[in-house]
Amino acid sequence: MTVDRFPDGFLFGAATSAYQIEGACNEAGKGESIWDRFAHTADKIEDGTNGDIACDHVHRFQEDVDWMAQLGLQAYRFSISWPRVLPTGSGVMNLAGAAFYDRLVDALLERGIQPFATLYHWDLPQAIQDKGGWPRRDTVDRFCEYTQCMARALGDRVQHWITINEPHISAFVGHLDGRHAPGHRSEEEAVSAAHHLLLAHGRATTILRQEAPDAQVGIALNLYPVYPATDSDADRLAATQLDGLVNRTFLDPISSRGYPQSVPYNADLIASFVRDGDLREISTPVSFLGVNYYAPQVAHAGPTSANLATVRPNAQVTQMGWEVYPPGLYELLDRLEREYAFPQLVVTENGAAYPDRIAADGRVRDVERIAYLKGHLAQCLRALEHGIPLAGYFVWSLLDNFEWSYGFSRRFGLIHVDFETQIRTPKASFDWYRNTIGRRAID
Ligand code: FCB
Repeated sequence: MTVDRFPDGFLFGAATSAYQIEGACNEAGKGESIWDRFAHTADKIEDGTNGDIACDHVHRFQEDVDWMAQLGLQAYRFSISWPRVLPTGSGVMNLAGAAFYDRLVDALLERGIQPFATLYHWDLPQAIQDKGGWPRRDTVDRFCEYTQCMARALGDRVQHWITINEPHISAFVGHLDGRHAPGHRSEEEAVSAAHHLLLAHGRATTILRQEAPDAQVGIALNLYPVYPATDSDADRLAATQLDGLVNRTFLDPISSRGYPQSVPYNADLIASFVRDGDLREISTPVSFLGVNYYAPQVAHAGPTSANLATVRPNAQVTQMGWEVYPPGLYELLDRLEREYAFPQLVVTENGAAYPDRIAADGRVRDVERIAYLKGHLAQCLRALEHGIPLAGYFVWSLLDNFEWSYGFSRRFGLIHVDFETQIRTPKASFDWYRNTIGRRAID
C-alpha cells in the first residue's frame, strides 16, 4: 500500500527555542543564562553576535503567532527560558517572565495551534552554572522545582511537553568540545552532565504527570544513522562507538537498558555517577520520543577518538556542511521502531540552512530548502506506510534565528528575518509548507 496523504491527527508543526528567538535578555526580571554569558565572551560566536535581541520575539510574538496561523500550523514547539521564570534558577517565580508564556500559549490556543513546550533548550540559569551546573547532581533538584512551577503555570493548557532538548549536545558539546555554553572541556563533566540531564528528564516526566494528568511527555534527542567510512574493522568499531555516544547513551537508559559499554568515553566514569534508583527514574516511560534529525554521521577510526564524523564522498551538503540524506530519516525511524518501540515518535526538528537572499522583487526563493523538506516528509510517509507510529513533524525553524556558535550566519527559517529591522518575510518554503499542510500531502 502506498500512502500519499498524511492521516488526520498527524500534526504538522514548526519549532524554535527561547534563546534563539526571544531577545529581551534582561527585561522584566529575567536572569542571566549560560548562553547570555557565553555569547558575550570573546571569540565564542563566529560572527561576533549574541541573542540579546535575536528575533525580538518577546515583543513580537503576536505577529509571529499570526504568521503561524497563516501557515496553517497545527502545532508549535517552543522552549521556555528557565531564567526568565526563575531568574536565579530556583526560589520565587518571576511572574512578569512567566506571564509571557501565558500569553503565548493563549495566543496559540486561540488560533487552534497546539503548544509543544520544551522545558530545557540549553539556556541554564547562570546562577546554577556558578554552583556547578549539570555536572553537579543538585541541578536535577533545581530542574524539578522549575518543572513543577511550569506545570502549575501552564499545565491546564499545554498538553505536550518535552523535558530536555538534545542532552547529547548539552553534555558533550557544552562540556567536552567547548563549542557551546558553558564552554568547558572535561570528559568527567560531560558524562556527569549527561547522566544528570537524563535523571532530570525522568523525574520531570513524573512531576508533569502528577501536576497535569493529561500531559503527554517526551524528550527530544538528536539521533543519527551512523555509517563506518570504510569496511575496515577499525572504522566499524569507530561507528559502533559513535553510535554508542550519540544515540545509545540516551536511547538505552530511557528504554530500561542502562548505559551502553561500547562508547568513545570512559564508560566506568559515567557509571560512577549513577546512584541506586537513577536508572529506574530515567526509564520512566515517555508518551512519545522526539526525534531531531538533520543528517547521518560517518565514523572513521581516528588517532585520538572515535568521535570523528565526516560526510560521505560526493555528498550534497547544506550550509552547515551537513549531508542531505532523507533516507537516513526512515532508517532512523525504522531502527527506533524495531529496537526500542516507543509508543509514538514525533520528528521534533528537521530542516536546513542555506544562504537565503531577498531578491529585488521581495521574494526569497529557497528552492533547496523546499527540496530538503520534501525529501524528508516523503520519508515520513514511507514510515507511516510501514506502520511506524509517527505522530507529527516539526520544521526547524519557523523563523531565521540565532544559530548558537554560528550566530546569525545560518538561516533555517520558513520566514526570513531581517535582524536589523525585524521585518519578517515568508520564504517560498513557507508557501510550499502551507500548501502541504492544507492538502495533507506533499505539494
Ligand atoms: C539542533 C538544535 C536547534 C538548532 C538546530 C539547527 O541541534 O536543537 O536549536 O540549532 O540544531
